[in-house]
Amino acid sequence: MTKERQLLEMINRIKSNDGPYTHSDPYRPAYHLSPPFGLMNDPNGLLYFKGRFHVFFQWNPFGTDHRTKVWGHFSSTDLLHWEGHPPALVPGEWYDRNGCYSGSAIEHDGKMYLFYTGNVKKLNGERESYQCLAISEDGIHFEKKGPILHVPKGYTSHFRDPKVWRHNDHWYMVLGAQSDAFQGRAVLFSSTDFCHWQMLGPIAGSHWNHSGDLGYMWECPDFFHLQGKDILLFCPQGLEPKGMNYNNLYQSGYLAGRWIPGTNHYEHGEFRELDRGFDFYAPQTFVDPKMRRILIAWMGMGDENERYHPTVEKGWIHALTLPRELKVIGDHLYQTPIDEIQNLRRGEPIRLHIDMNRDHSEYSATISPHSEIIVHVHSLTSGPLEITIRNNIQFSYDTDHGIFTLRRKKFNGNQYESRQCMIGKLSKLQIFLDSSSVEVFINDGQEVFTARFFADPEDHSFLIASDSQATVDLQIYSLLASYPVFR
Ligand code: FRU
Repeated sequence: MTKERQLLEMINRIKSNDGPYTHSDPYRPAYHLSPPFGLMNDPNGLLYFKGRFHVFFQWNPFGTDHRTKVWGHFSSTDLLHWEGHPPALVPGEWYDRNGCYSGSAIEHDGKMYLFYTGNVKKLNGERESYQCLAISEDGIHFEKKGPILHVPKGYTSHFRDPKVWRHNDHWYMVLGAQSDAFQGRAVLFSSTDFCHWQMLGPIAGSHWNHSGDLGYMWECPDFFHLQGKDILLFCPQGLEPKGMNYNNLYQSGYLAGRWIPGTNHYEHGEFRELDRGFDFYAPQTFVDPKMRRILIAWMGMGDENERYHPTVEKGWIHALTLPRELKVIGDHLYQTPIDEIQNLRRGEPIRLHIDMNRDHSEYSATISPHSEIIVHVHSLTSGPLEITIRNNIQFSYDTDHGIFTLRRKKFNGNQYESRQCMIGKLSKLQIFLDSSSVEVFINDGQEVFTARFFADPEDHSFLIASDSQATVDLQIYSLLASYPVFR
């Protein structure tokens, strides 16, 4: 049986009942996208097409490791309720035999065009990469057109993840690459017909154009204009930890600058991380009908933690982040959850005004594992403010040093690990809690921490405590579950 046939049978099996998205799995996200089975990684091909939002994703449906990648597919009319579709791209051709790797989507003349990387492993262990095209009339069924671009001279076969967009009369494609000297690069191409691509050259890179060391390989680039800035998102590999920065195995961040269209001339500032938590990688953006620039990322990391996710036993691993709206303030990207998420709020919130120096220094509650918690901090004179969720995740803010810390229980054992960043003054936290994930938006998106965590399923505790003088307003909404449906 071909892989494609095998896969369709697996999907048909999950249509006949509630499928895998049920409350009986305590770690199954209730309102974040996760795979019905197998391993999910990068979001791909984000696009609004003929009235629906499309989210494709890297998917190994055959296991929870990083072998055979197909393009899984969800679509939605409101970015909240998702329908699962058969995979859009499955490896099988000579040019994508070992994986249909990451890429992007555009709409042109009423058709959907997918650009992806065909990954081929040769018998001698070497890799080949082809940038490929597939086209669809309905956004569900795709016809592969084969390779449209080969690896150019000067680069290794780590050349992948095409992101395509239109500017004036041209189509542009940015690719993640590694130079022959093993330096990460983002390389730009242009075309007028999708089939012939002219190389404009690298727009940014490690040890290139006055940049310092930015790693040996760049994955998943995205390049767009937003509020007067040209922003390059990319995922550099090979950065050494530096204080509070670069503490994950791989990074995900951006440059802000000015690009001269039609050229590879791009002046930019310093690299900044997009998210300060443990589990955030391969973000991709698109523009929606309201002209918002929306980002979705893989809420995961291909690190050793994968071995310890308790969901592996249940046959699935990983999820995607909430869709987030991007804004530029100065040279800095701010991320906020899209407003639509408010439609998941169920009933009235718990509302509390806590005057820590007058009442107690501690307040506790029982909360739903799917909650949104909003904390307005009115005054915090000195000392720490701490929020502990389900005895596993803890946020703390050190007023004296302006440091924000996220701690979580390690996936193996009872010890804790942490990530930190400086934020200056703390005024607001918006925390999205799902069955096994947390995203905290600080000061309306100035910084975000994203992390998976696996708490005791019975523990629904929430605790806020402070040794200092603090006045906070708290709202806790319980959120509706919104599991994807396969029809
Ligand atoms: C990033 C990445 C991409 C590649 C894909 C394969 O997580 O390594 O560079 O296209 O995953 O699944």
